[in-house]
Amino acid sequence: SATTSLASAATSSPPDTARPTQGDDGGRPKDYIEAAVRQALVKAFGEAGAAAAPMVTAATKPEFGDYQCNAAMALAKPLNAKPRDIAQQLIDALEVADLCDPPDIAGPGFINLRLKPEYIQSRITAMLEDESRLAIAKTTAPQRIVVDFSSPNIAKEMHVGHLRSTIIGDTLCRVLEFQGHDVLRLNHVGDWGTQFGMLITYLKEEVPQALADGDGGEGSITAGEVDIGDLVEFYKKAKERFDGDASFKERSRAEVVRLQAGDPDVLRAWRLLCDLSRREFQVIYDILGVKLEERGESFYNSMLGGVIEELREGGLLQESEGAQVVFIEGAKNRDDSAQALIVQKTDGGYMYSTTDLAAVKQRATQERADRVLYVTDSGQASHFDQVFQVARRSGLAPPSLQLQHVPFGLVQGEDGKKFKTRSGDTVKLKDLLDEAVRIAAEDMEKRLAEEGRGMGEEERAVARKVGLGAVKYADLSMNRESNYRFSYAKMLSLQGNTAPYMMYAYARIQGIRRRATTSTPISTSDPPRIVLEHPAELTLARTLLRLPEVLTELERDLYPNRLCEYLFDLSQRFNQFYEGCPVNAAATDELRASRVALCSVTAATIKLSLGLLGIDVVEKL
Ligand code: ARG
Repeated sequence: SATTSLASAATSSPPDTARPTQGDDGGRPKDYIEAAVRQALVKAFGEAGAAAAPMVTAATKPEFGDYQCNAAMALAKPLNAKPRDIAQQLIDALEVADLCDPPDIAGPGFINLRLKPEYIQSRITAMLEDESRLAIAKTTAPQRIVVDFSSPNIAKEMHVGHLRSTIIGDTLCRVLEFQGHDVLRLNHVGDWGTQFGMLITYLKEEVPQALADGDGGEGSITAGEVDIGDLVEFYKKAKERFDGDASFKERSRAEVVRLQAGDPDVLRAWRLLCDLSRREFQVIYDILGVKLEERGESFYNSMLGGVIEELREGGLLQESEGAQVVFIEGAKNRDDSAQALIVQKTDGGYMYSTTDLAAVKQRATQERADRVLYVTDSGQASHFDQVFQVARRSGLAPPSLQLQHVPFGLVQGEDGKKFKTRSGDTVKLKDLLDEAVRIAAEDMEKRLAEEGRGMGEEERAVARKVGLGAVKYADLSMNRESNYRFSYAKMLSLQGNTAPYMMYAYARIQGIRRRATTSTPISTSDPPRIVLEHPAELTLARTLLRLPEVLTELERDLYPNRLCEYLFDLSQRFNQFYEGCPVNAAATDELRASRVALCSVTAATIKLSLGLLGIDVVEKL
């Protein structure tokens, strides 16, 4: 539909193609080769070459080298020549000799590119000397990126959907920050709307002590009297009253009007409710180690009238059944009627979408954003399609601004049904996280008991990291668009692609390093020569070189599960290496030093990657 094509047009801007200076690829061989292919295409084929895509991908099999270029196939037709001949011309113009062995042509016209062993060795050495960044250069084209994530609603419980948004959003921020972008983490909290009228009315009438203000200071809370659980209860009761009692409804409406007009008493009550919820949300953010800036819906209140004006001036606004709407192009409702985005209700009130339109503009102008990501469940896909379309057509979003909804699926119970507690209640996030930590500690206690050891302070801290890591990794390792079945047993298993498995792999490698260097120390002053003679050494090294590629892809497509898959693959490569290549008992000191170096770079890669997923490693497990 036109709606989606508008949205996706904005996302297809070309990746960073600035060609690095010769020999310095910043650890991004794929980007470097891609840029070299672009240049060669122009050199060899002029305009036709400039229009062609470089089509460089990771090789599908080791015998095809490291990368494969398929550009020749697509050029065969327009140039009316054999793909193999085109491939040869392309190779003749291609300058990749400082990274690759001479390329060869395979099959009908694929170009196989193999990284030179010296290049791989020099990269491993560079990574060894920079364990925190693994010598991965920051982007040469930094962007200002707003990530709108988490975003729970005041006076409502933060639910598992918000947990997913928090975990996925945090990872995206970490990766984008690592890549060198300027990231603004925004919590678009639902802190405004008609629900406050009914809630405040209910509290005033039924639970006035909840609104009583101890010292009268701004935003002060009646200590310990009401918590979020009560608030959620009050909210439900208020809603019932609102739906069933016309005069209550009237009084609620009047309260909203007073709130919007800035009546100090109502504002004070509103602030109190926000503070109460905020404290609850903060508990979860602290547990998860997630930092973000609160900028709720109310932040945009003063801009809403301006949005309506701009839409009117742009000729987009129409009246439909008393409301102000913008008709959506290229999309229809199920009954084939035209889709309309309501931006102002009959009573003059604004909508969720109006706030989002104002936010797009504020982010484009004041924040100077180049890209905005919205991490919410896929249920909001059409909301964002519509908002993005209206923002573009009205000019609230400039064409250069990339707007992307990052949708994710539902969290389900282990049976694939709705995620609930055993008694059928909605699961509280705090309880969910506590339970993961409790099970992790229990598992650990059992394992330690077998060795005749007990749980101490340190072990508890480790169990906590494992439990929280497990919840995060389980979520992130799934394709985010699929529904995700929540299972403590699976996520905490030591087998399979889980956080405990990866954390254990890390700790094990650290152990191997320790054992191999304590008996006969290895000089750290000059880096060891990296030996890549055993096929397992070479495969491990090549896998280690791939992290930057995975991150570039993640930056573009926003699928954290690719990073988890990479980690799992890396751990398998490491196991094969460790089976085939003794470290401690290596034949020579030189070989031992080289293998320890491969262990170190593997460990550093796991630590860095888990860190990007918001997961702490532990040195011993
Ligand atoms: N508060 C919303 C919810 O709980 C999510 C907000 C997402 N962000 C946005 N700019 N609309 O579903």
